[in-house]
Amino acid sequence: MARCRICENDYAEFISFGNMPIANGFLSSEEFESEYFFELKVGFCADCQMVQLIDQPDREQMFHQDYAFFSSLSRGQQIHFQALAEKLLSNYLDGDSPFAVEIGSNDGIMLQHIAAAGISHLGVEPSENVARAAQEKGVNSVSRFFDEELAADVIQKYGHADTISSANVICHIPYMHSVLAGVKQLLKPTGVFIFEDPYLGDIVEKTSYDQIYDEHVFYFSVGSVSNMLTRHGLELFDVEPLSVHGGSMRYYIANRGTREVSTRVAEQLARETELGLHKIETYNRLRTNIEKSREDLTTLLQKIVKEQGRPVIAYGATSKSTTVLNYCDLGPELIEFISDTTPLKQGKYSPGMHIPVKSPDELEKSDPQYLLLFAWNHMQEIMDKEVDFKDKGGRWIAYVPEVGILT
Ligand code: SAM
Ligand code: TMP
Repeated sequence: MARCRICENDYAEFISFGNMPIANGFLSSEEFESEYFFELKVGFCADCQMVQLIDQPDREQMFHQDYAFFSSLSRGQQIHFQALAEKLLSNYLDGDSPFAVEIGSNDGIMLQHIAAAGISHLGVEPSENVARAAQEKGVNSVSRFFDEELAADVIQKYGHADTISSANVICHIPYMHSVLAGVKQLLKPTGVFIFEDPYLGDIVEKTSYDQIYDEHVFYFSVGSVSNMLTRHGLELFDVEPLSVHGGSMRYYIANRGTREVSTRVAEQLARETELGLHKIETYNRLRTNIEKSREDLTTLLQKIVKEQGRPVIAYGATSKSTTVLNYCDLGPELIEFISDTTPLKQGKYSPGMHIPVKSPDELEKSDPQYLLLFAWNHMQEIMDKEVDFKDKGGRWIAYVPEVGILT
């Protein structure tokens, strides 16, 4: 039994994916020997409804000066974050001397628009390489982890915040009580905290188990988020389902009693009850579906590789793909290489299974018949870009929500 990070009750594991490396730990062949592994297993706390990793590697092993994820590499994400910045500017940063904080601001994909509007801001970003990229765009960034202590330092230096926003970060932080206490202190009495993360309801409905990896310590639902906020005098006043990252939820939070609560909150909670997100049976069923997905994917890949007499090529060396590759035991005999646009990943190998990562130029040269779509969360952008592949008769292999060949 493990102890829930939110309510400290005992809770049970419902799945183990076995030994896993660091999801974003793309490495050189000299580093194979010393590669770090831990057991990736997930549990559900029936008391506060939080789905969470049982163990997580130390934060410095995941977030450092060579962090491989640069937010701005996706055009879709650029558009998404510009829209969020515009929303913050017009709805919440329109008062006197506004101040905006972002937790996990990465390469400045969102804050660059706040900076361009001349608004006082601060990005809190511990991975130095991406924080530097933000600074080069004129984004004021500090390379530290957000917690209660950091919040106190920000108040002393800059004052209280009108907005604290965060995307794909809050679910990464295990010391949630320190984060929420920091948010509570740092917000102005009328301020808002807005964050978004991959949504548990989508993971359950689509069997998108590749969202489960070391960085994601929590798998949030509206129910579990409401429960944890209540402990800190904070209140969820609105929710907004998003299509990004394969299905996310944006949570709008304020000091309790300061904002009218939208009916969308209760509606979403009712949907979660229908989906059974409060019951262990749902997660046991998810485990069965994940096992079937693994079986279907390995069978399909083996069949294709045998038929075409060469391994397939994969598209997008995503952090998510680390779970799929290692859990399904897919090595270079099934996957020749992974094409990826991130310079820092090219020339390296995928974590654990050690499949080479190459630039899209190599993909062009190799004229593949099949491509395994790892970056399925950027499907539309990729399909628009890769029309030639499809026109020449190329086929996409997908595994979310089901394993199969896209028509
Ligand atoms: N917000 C960006 C986006 O949505 O594209 C980046 C998301 S990236 C998956 C997670 C980011 O959170 C990384 O840049 C990482 O360095 C940062 N991070 C991790 N732990 C953090 C913490 N405790 N405080 C602030 N940022 C953190
Ligand atoms: P993400 O799923 O964590 O956003 O990562 C997407 C990865 O896929 C990232 O390494 C960049 C890569 N990628 C491509 O190689 N080509 C593309 O067209 C897109 C959108 C992403």
